[in-house]
Amino acid sequence: MKLSFRAPRGLGGELTPPPDKSITHRALMLAALSDGPCLIHNPLGTGDCLSTRSCLEALGVPISEELRKGRGAAGTQPQLRVRGVGLRGLREPEDVLNAGNSGTTTRLLAGMLAGLPLCAVITGDASLRRRPMLRVVEPLRRMGAKIAGRLSGEQPPLVFLPGPGSLSGLDYALPVASAQVKSALMLAALRADSQVRLSGATGSRDHTERLYRFLGLSLPEEEGALVCLPASRVPAFELAVPGDPSSAAFFVAAALISGRELTVRACGLNPTRLGFFRVLRRMGALIEMGEERTEGGEPVGTLRVRPGTLVATEIGEAEIPFLLDEVPLLAVVGAKAEGLTRVSGAAELRHKESDRLQAVARLLEAAGGRIELAPDGFSVEGPQQLRGGEMEAGGDHRIAMAAAVLAAGSSEGMAVGGVEAAGVSFPEFVSAFRRLGGTVG
Ligand code: S3P
Repeated sequence: MKLSFRAPRGLGGELTPPPDKSITHRALMLAALSDGPCLIHNPLGTGDCLSTRSCLEALGVPISEELRKGRGAAGTQPQLRVRGVGLRGLREPEDVLNAGNSGTTTRLLAGMLAGLPLCAVITGDASLRRRPMLRVVEPLRRMGAKIAGRLSGEQPPLVFLPGPGSLSGLDYALPVASAQVKSALMLAALRADSQVRLSGATGSRDHTERLYRFLGLSLPEEEGALVCLPASRVPAFELAVPGDPSSAAFFVAAALISGRELTVRACGLNPTRLGFFRVLRRMGALIEMGEERTEGGEPVGTLRVRPGTLVATEIGEAEIPFLLDEVPLLAVVGAKAEGLTRVSGAAELRHKESDRLQAVARLLEAAGGRIELAPDGFSVEGPQQLRGGEMEAGGDHRIAMAAAVLAAGSSEGMAVGGVEAAGVSFPEFVSAFRRLGGTVG
C-alpha cells in the first residue's frame, strides 16, 4: 500500500505510543515459562509480538485475549492471559514455527528451545531468513544444544534437535552488543546445570534483567559481568507494558524538524532506551522526562519535547546500542541541524530488517537531500531544504515510519510504498500521523 504523507503545519500535540515491543516479547516468553497463570496488560498485539504469541501457542502454551474495563475515558484495555507451562513444559510443535519478520522472536525462542527434549524448526519471512543467527546458535551449541540451520546455522530455518532438557553452564564474552543475544543466553541459563556468566552484557537494553529482578530471580553482577543462575521455577506474575520510546521517537523527530511541541504520555523511560533523546538534547532540543511510576521493574512517565535550534553532533559506537532503532531518524534530524552530523560504529544497522544504512541513504536522496554513506555509518551536512518525494519501505517498519515523518520537514511531503510494514511495531501509525496534524491520502 502506498500512502502520501504531508504535514504543512508540522506534527505536534499529545501522543500515547503503542506498547513496548521488546517488553511485550519478554513478558510473553517468561509468562510461558512460569508455573502459573500470568496477566499482561497493554501488550503489543500485532506484528512481531503476534509472531511470539503464535509460536508459544504452537509450543503448547495457552494464551487468551481479554478486554479489561479501563478507568475513566480509557474505555476497555486489552490484556493477555498466559497459562505458564513451566521451565521444561514446552511441547513439540506439530508444524514449523513461523517467526514472521521478528528477529527478537527467533533469537529469544532459540534460548528457550535449546536442549529441550523436542524437535522444532523456526523460520520466517524473506528478511528474517537473511538475518545472522550464529551469534545465538554458536554459544547455545557451547552449552550443549544441537542446532542445525542454513549456512551451518547462520540463517533460518533453524532446526532444534532433541536434547536432555538441561544445558551446561557457560563463561562467555558477548561479541556483539546485542540485547537479543544476551536475552537468549539468559533464557537458556534458567535450565543450565551451572551458572552462565556473560561479560560485555551491560552495553545494551536491559529489559530481561529488569524482568528477572522483578520476578525475584537472582542475577548478580560481578566485575561488569552478568551472572545468570539456574532456576528451579519462574513465578507467575502480572504486569502492564509501558509505551515504546522507539515508536515515540518518530513523532519526537517529526515535531522537532517542524518546530512543534509534543507531549508523550505513558512512555517507557528505561535509560538504556533513551540514547536518541540524549543526543537530541545535545543537538539543542528541549526535552524533559518525568518518571511517574514503575511497571514490571520499568520506569514509566511523560516526555515533553520543545523545539530548539538544532546543531550537528557526532554519534559513536558506544552510544549506538542505546539508540539502535532510532539511527534512521538521526539522518532525518541531522539533515535539519546546522553543521555536520556524523554517525559511526553502526555497522549492525546493516543486519536489521533491511540494510538500514543503505535504506536511509535512499530515503534522503529520494527526498532531494544529501548524505554520505560509510561502511559503519553516515555523515549528513545541514541544514538542508528537503523537497520530499517517493520511497519504498522495503518491508522495514522503521524505514517506512522514518520516510513518513520526514514529510514534516519537507516542502512537498513523502509518498511511502509498503507503509503497512509500520504495523510490525506501531499499528496505529497512520492515525497518529493524522491526529498530530498531518494529512495522509
Ligand atoms: C531488541 C534488541 C535490538 C533491537 C530490536 C529489539 C530486543 O536488537 O534492534 O528492535 O528486543 O532485544 P539487538 O539484538 O541488535 O540489540
